[in-house]
Amino acid sequence: MKIRKAVLPVAGLGTRFLPATKAQPKEMLPVVDKPLVQYAVEEVAAAGIPLTIFVTGRGKSAIENHFDVSAELEYELAGRGKNPLRKQVRAISSLCDVVYLRQKYPKGLGHAVLMSRELVDEEPFAVVLSDDVIDSRVPCLKQMGEVFDEFDASILAIERVPKSTVGSYGIIAAEPVRNSKWNGRLFKVTDLIEKPSPSDAPSNLAIIGRYILTPRIFRKLATTRRGKGGEIQLTDALKDLLKDEPIYGFIFEGKRYDAGDKLGFLKATVEFALKEPNMGSEFRKYLKTLKL
Ligand code: UTP
Repeated sequence: MKIRKAVLPVAGLGTRFLPATKAQPKEMLPVVDKPLVQYAVEEVAAAGIPLTIFVTGRGKSAIENHFDVSAELEYELAGRGKNPLRKQVRAISSLCDVVYLRQKYPKGLGHAVLMSRELVDEEPFAVVLSDDVIDSRVPCLKQMGEVFDEFDASILAIERVPKSTVGSYGIIAAEPVRNSKWNGRLFKVTDLIEKPSPSDAPSNLAIIGRYILTPRIFRKLATTRRGKGGEIQLTDALKDLLKDEPIYGFIFEGKRYDAGDKLGFLKATVEFALKEPNMGSEFRKYLKTLKL
């Protein structure tokens, strides 16, 4: 795979999850026993990408500590004979190399990605939004990497959403790419619009939080003005990029949970808990006792 760097923007305010996010990062909220951001970094590592570039902000130091070695904790766990747990804790810091950058003001996703320009340099890279947790047999980024290897162009992960919810997403207009092994799942983007009203949406194909981008996106982001919500939107820069280069939308195989939203977070928690080897069957029994 040619992608060597993944950018993880984690500098947002997490307003949909207040008050839980008043003093802790949204990305550290756990689904069962792992913080959202760990699922994302595990996906990066499983896709064979060796470097994660975090774009962080104020109040996000818990993320840095989570991916660091915790010598005291490991020492205590070893002393108490809890070696499997010690190994589990150590493994988190060995997932991949990490670099931290600071976004001083949360001016939007596009602005957060632009912060990584110097470090990414002139090579294609991945962007992963950790609020989107994806449960799939083959990691979503790996699936996208295969499409990238074939087309050498920016690839956006997309899914079909109910028309009434298009206003929460970047939406693409697109034509199906025929005669590829991704028949029915691969689209050539013809336009993009950030958070349209249902009547303005050209389709129900929504961009979700996984991207593979060519480095030309940085030139576009550098001149992108504030858009929807007063933020510098990645979707607006992609629309500009489309003038120069093809962009593809890819319906990946797997289930996505919007864990940055309370309901999506609860769905992920219940479904991941049901799959837990040590707890799943007990939890299923418990759920069956509820009068719903
Ligand atoms: P979201 O819009 O989902 O995150 O951005 P948010 O702003 O933190 O949350 P809400 O909407 O207020 O609840 C998607 C991702 O982009 C990051 C966020 O941390 C999240 O992972 N982001 C967003 C930044 O890094 N910087 C920004 O300026 C905005």
